[in-house]
Amino acid sequence: MSTEIINGETVVRLTVNGEPHSGIAEPRTLLSDFLRHTLGLTGTHVGCEQGACGACTVRLDGEIVRSCITFAVAADGAEVETVEGLAGPDGLHPIQEAFRANHGLQCGFCTPGMLLTTQALLEENPAPTDGEIREHLSGNVCRCTGYQGIVAAVKDAAGRLEKEGRS
Ligand code: FES
Ligand code: FES
Repeated sequence: MSTEIINGETVVRLTVNGEPHSGIAEPRTLLSDFLRHTLGLTGTHVGCEQGACGACTVRLDGEIVRSCITFAVAADGAEVETVEGLAGPDGLHPIQEAFRANHGLQCGFCTPGMLLTTQALLEENPAPTDGEIREHLSGNVCRCTGYQGIVAAVKDAAGRLEKEGRS
């Protein structure tokens, strides 16, 4: 898709969680700010704003990316998945249920990034070991849980998805 510029401003068109969205962005506008401030999707959290903590993780055409170091204009035409897209009409996603059941969150600030990173892991590797989980989530910082609950949650999520035939 070629980027559209109207009166010197860039129109960014994205599909977010299956729905079309568009908005004006400056060349320097970050995807995290575009999602939160332009589209009002505040489920994506912003922590370090330098690509280190993983709080702002979203999926861009299926790949996990740091939305705080991705320009909105670079995502023009892409499919974006955010935490708002996980739960369905029947309730929470199994990964969300597993995090809730295993104390995989406390303050919840890191949780959106943890959930999307977990989803990407379990698509690639439906039955990861503890070591594989820790390695895959090593770019996502949590200041509350000590990670034990998160690892347990990811293992539980793997079991729930397998049971539902979703892995
Ligand atoms: S806010 Fe993006 S990695 Fe920390
Ligand atoms: S639950 Fe608080 S930062 Fe992870």
